[in-house]
Amino acid sequence: MTAPETGPSVTGAEALRDRALASLTTARARTTLLTSCVEDPDLTAQHSPLMSPLVWDLAHIGNQEELWLLRAVGGREAMRPEIDGLYDAFEHPRSERPSLPLLPPEEARQYAAEVRKRALDLLETADFHGTRLTEAGFAFGMIAQHEQQHDETMLITHQLRRGPQALTAPRPEQAPEFTGPAEVLVPGGPFTMGTSTEPWALDNERPAHSREVAPYWIDTTPVTNGAYQAFIEDGGYDTERWWAPEGWKHVREHGLTAPLFWHRDGGQWLRRRFGATEVVPAGEPVLHVSWYEADAYARWAGRRLPTEAEWEKAARHDPATGRSRRYPWGDADPAPEHANLGQRHLGPAPAGSYPAGESPLGVRQLIGDVWEWTASDLAPYPGFAAFPYKEYSEVFFGPEYKVLRGGSFAVDPVACRGTFRNWDYPVRRQIFSGFRTARPESA
Ligand code: AVJ
Ligand code: FE
Repeated sequence: MTAPETGPSVTGAEALRDRALASLTTARARTTLLTSCVEDPDLTAQHSPLMSPLVWDLAHIGNQEELWLLRAVGGREAMRPEIDGLYDAFEHPRSERPSLPLLPPEEARQYAAEVRKRALDLLETADFHGTRLTEAGFAFGMIAQHEQQHDETMLITHQLRRGPQALTAPRPEQAPEFTGPAEVLVPGGPFTMGTSTEPWALDNERPAHSREVAPYWIDTTPVTNGAYQAFIEDGGYDTERWWAPEGWKHVREHGLTAPLFWHRDGGQWLRRRFGATEVVPAGEPVLHVSWYEADAYARWAGRRLPTEAEWEKAARHDPATGRSRRYPWGDADPAPEHANLGQRHLGPAPAGSYPAGESPLGVRQLIGDVWEWTASDLAPYPGFAAFPYKEYSEVFFGPEYKVLRGGSFAVDPVACRGTFRNWDYPVRRQIFSGFRTARPESA
């Protein structure tokens, strides 16, 4: 028998209502900032074929809220049935979205605001029992997470946008230099992966189940820019044997020589970030690398990427009790001293930051800073059931997608947990992606 997971404290209806209201309000403040810091032409333009115009995200956020809160939970009629198709992510790929007859910025704002007004009316009298959609306010939590996920997507669009700086935020505090061990041994044996007790966990995080993991070493911190530069300087991008065959083909075809947004200037590496150019700081976690780059680096370093189960065991397993925690630091919701989340900074903090957020074994920055690529394909857990719609997770299961864990500086706490799963194609690197490495105990 595996010791089960520990869970959030049991909450009453008024606390759930407050939490739902606070989560929706925080998300809307972020959405408003991201869609008001540039002029309308920058909202309707497509800044990269990989991304939607910002004004699409804005109305899509409102449309999903209308579908799930007003119609599915509230039983209301469609407000504007003719626009549903425009904002269905499966009807139109991102590259096509700029040519659709999208709502112009002011109309999109008004639509999202009207949906929100009606959703908050519904929340006032919502019953948090009865159906799976309403249980513990799930639909409200799902919609707050959905908006925050698009807020991260919109921040990626801002990073890809050319032109002067539109967003600013204070830099993370410079923590004292990390002098702890470079890697930590995680003991072998079963642990509880996934969750059956987290009320707002999404379908792919469920159910809790036992996983056997052999003992392994895992990096104490994410891999830094400095370490990654050593790989580059050692000819990493020109050495076929470090690369998965598809990855080698990809870097050759695209002439890749460094992470996205980096360029060389004389003897040093510079990077472009939200409209500003600066020297790449050696001590920060590397950002904007693909799965193939992460995988190649790991092989060069004589290591490998952790599997998704290894990542989660490092993040949640408490060796003293055998139980799985909600977060590395315990069951408390994230606070600023635990992790760099929520776009309060516009980049990761130096490797080794946030000692208060470390796991029982001393692994740091598992939550926040950079999404971490894992070795694993996105697959359902035993007992998975799609809920409330197949297009959230189920249609993505399979070998084309690699799993990322832990969240980035751009993710809000509501959409980040020890069990939260993200995924993308292994070539993608416009996302806020980094990684850490692992090795078997005996190697
Ligand atoms: C889970 C981040 C891969 O952005 O494509 C947003 C989240 N799903 N709207 C995405 C999502 C529907 C999804 N990821
Ligand atoms: Fe969406």
